[in-house]
Amino acid sequence: MDQYWVIGNPIAHSKSPLIHRLFAEQTQESLNYAPLLGEEGRFAQQVQEALQGSGKGMNVTLPFKEQAWALAEVRSQAAQAAGAVNTLWRDEQGRLCGDNTDGCGLVTDLIKNHHVMLSGQRVLLLGAGGAARGVVLPLLQAGVAELVIANRTLSKAETLVNDLAPFALNAARLHACAFSDLGEAPFDLIINATSASLQGALPAISTKLVSTHTLCYDMMYAAEPTAFCLWAEAQGGRALDGLGMLIEQAAEAFYIWRGVRPQTASVMQALRQALQ
Ligand code: ATR
Repeated sequence: MDQYWVIGNPIAHSKSPLIHRLFAEQTQESLNYAPLLGEEGRFAQQVQEALQGSGKGMNVTLPFKEQAWALAEVRSQAAQAAGAVNTLWRDEQGRLCGDNTDGCGLVTDLIKNHHVMLSGQRVLLLGAGGAARGVVLPLLQAGVAELVIANRTLSKAETLVNDLAPFALNAARLHACAFSDLGEAPFDLIINATSASLQGALPAISTKLVSTHTLCYDMMYAAEPTAFCLWAEAQGGRALDGLGMLIEQAAEAFYIWRGVRPQTASVMQALRQALQ
């Protein structure tokens, strides 16, 4: 039977095996999907050992996404721009291929599941680490009018803008900004790609940036609403967490590997229950 993995460290907490098992059941694809504990210094070997014979594909999570990017012989444009790979497979010539489906997962969740019209919107992206980098190009490609990247450390946001501008046709819409210089005009969409929620902390941005029409999206998710979602709702905004993005990035990987697109609504319900 075809075998797939998710590799990371730690890995026991990963929801990917459950998500892909549900996709496989639903689409009647015959496959196994298992977690694999990545070992620092042995990652490349682990990938080469896994992706042979019945080993058909691998998802990659922290802290190996950049190493997976370096290892891939063929990269999608999304992977190239993100500097990180979360989906690996071999093509017909046996070359190791890498894609990054995180940004696609976010945009699909917003547009398809939550009916958000990204086209023409003013968007604020908080954070300038790997999580932010992966979603910039897909947001620009979705036609946002303005994408402001704000980070606690301004220089990292500036580096991100400089790195990604060459990939974007509409790079003039991309700006870097410090939290304190964001002004007071509310955004249509605010995406939290910082890791602040992991510590129950909040990016230090003005409450004026949120109005009743603002959608706030935390790329993190948990059984309880995240600190960022609670903050957004307290300002009168609408809030979503990143569970939908997780499931949609997985659906995109499944499609790359199997050529079959799973339905995600029932999987979303199952995952929400499993979090409780
Ligand atoms: P990831 O790969 O998850 O993006 P990362 O590369 O370590 O992780 O980046 C973490 C991001 O969260 C950074 O943008 C970081 O801001 P700095 O560049 O200034 O460090 C941001 N971050 C983490 N904790 C934060 C907090 N309490 N408030 C605001 N931003 C925070």
